[in-house]
Amino acid sequence: MKKILVTGGLGFIGSHTVVELLNDGYEVVIIDNLSNSKIEVLNNIVEITSKKPDFYQLDLRVKSEIKNFFDNNKVDGIIHFAAFKAVGESVEKPLEYYENNIGSLVYLLQEMRNRNIDNFIFSSSCTVYGQADELPITENAPVKPAESPYGNTKQIGEEIIKEACYANNLNAIALRYFNPIGAHDSIKIGELPLGVPQNLIPFVTQTAAGIREQLSIFGNDYPTADGTAIRDYIHVVDLAKAHIVSLQRLFDKKNKHPFEFFNIGTGTGSSVLEVVKSFEQVTSQKLNYKIVDRRSGDITAAYADTTLANKELNWKAQKTLDQALLSAWLWQQKNI
Ligand code: NAD
Ligand code: UD1
Repeated sequence: MKKILVTGGLGFIGSHTVVELLNDGYEVVIIDNLSNSKIEVLNNIVEITSKKPDFYQLDLRVKSEIKNFFDNNKVDGIIHFAAFKAVGESVEKPLEYYENNIGSLVYLLQEMRNRNIDNFIFSSSCTVYGQADELPITENAPVKPAESPYGNTKQIGEEIIKEACYANNLNAIALRYFNPIGAHDSIKIGELPLGVPQNLIPFVTQTAAGIREQLSIFGNDYPTADGTAIRDYIHVVDLAKAHIVSLQRLFDKKNKHPFEFFNIGTGTGSSVLEVVKSFEQVTSQKLNYKIVDRRSGDITAAYADTTLANKELNWKAQKTLDQALLSAWLWQQKNI
């Protein structure tokens, strides 16, 4: 049985991926410092899967802690989620973002090299494309200069991994996520935003739940059909499954290059107003919203061409936007 280290495994995407790994028969060991997650998530993973992953509350920024972990644990592959992810905060605290998102990554890769551990999956983001010239976005679209330190950590992160792969005989896959949303079907795990949510869907569900008074829609003067911006919202369980097939590709040595990257989205773009309408329809909730100015740094439209992932990973998103929105709402209600 292969043993997988999942860093950030109690976070939003990590916890859903741990569930899929356990359900597929992998052994899992999680490292998380609980900086953006709660220990209760571990119990909920056990409830869903009836299996208990190993858990280490460690901080990946502390090199000696990582070394100590690998001295005591043998793993066959690593899925690296742990990072800070708030775009706005990264502008205020760039050094903290580089320390956590880049420092931890380098330490992990060093341990992999030193101990001959192969097979690395990295959480990247469609943010690397910025506003792409052509839609849908293929992997051939150029990487644009990052708009924020957070975005930069994903670009630099990919470059570091690529160089390490070629220099140190490692194999890695970066998954460029579009907009992950939703919660597990069991509604036992989901997204736990701290403070006022910056992302659309948690703000929508909190508004419907009465925690926020009103949703602000950032701009209705974009060059789109209804004037609001377009994104590719992918159910987090579909996204989690993309990690399993990517890992399997590395284990099966089917990768064509030591470093590969794939777009992980649904291939369908939805405008903010379409999301609001779908949410209202599927949940029978009336959403209080107003149109305000554009948010600085936002792009008009981004949605994935997923042909490469469909073909190479034999993976395709299965769940609909409605299913994702309903699960996000059920999760919100449970967490009021
Ligand atoms: P999350 O904050 O829910 O999960 C990250 C987890 O990592 C948290 O549980 C946190 O406690 C842990 N962590 C952070 N720094 C750590 C450290 N130094 N040591 C140990 N644990 C640490 O975030 P998420 O939404 O699940 O995102 C996972 C990954 O996917 C991140 O790398 C993020 O940048 C990337 N990503 C997320 C999105 C998104 O919209 N959620 C989009 C694109 C890419
Ligand atoms: C944001 C990040 C991006 C990150 C992604 C992960 C910024 C500038 N970009 O992208 O780097 O990879 O999250 O999911 O923060 N919206 C509203 N009202 C709100 C919140 C959002 O109208 O209260 C709109 C936004 O303007 C956008 C859409 O909803 O058009 C989606 O927003 P969001 O969920 O923040 O995601 P992104 O902007 O795509």
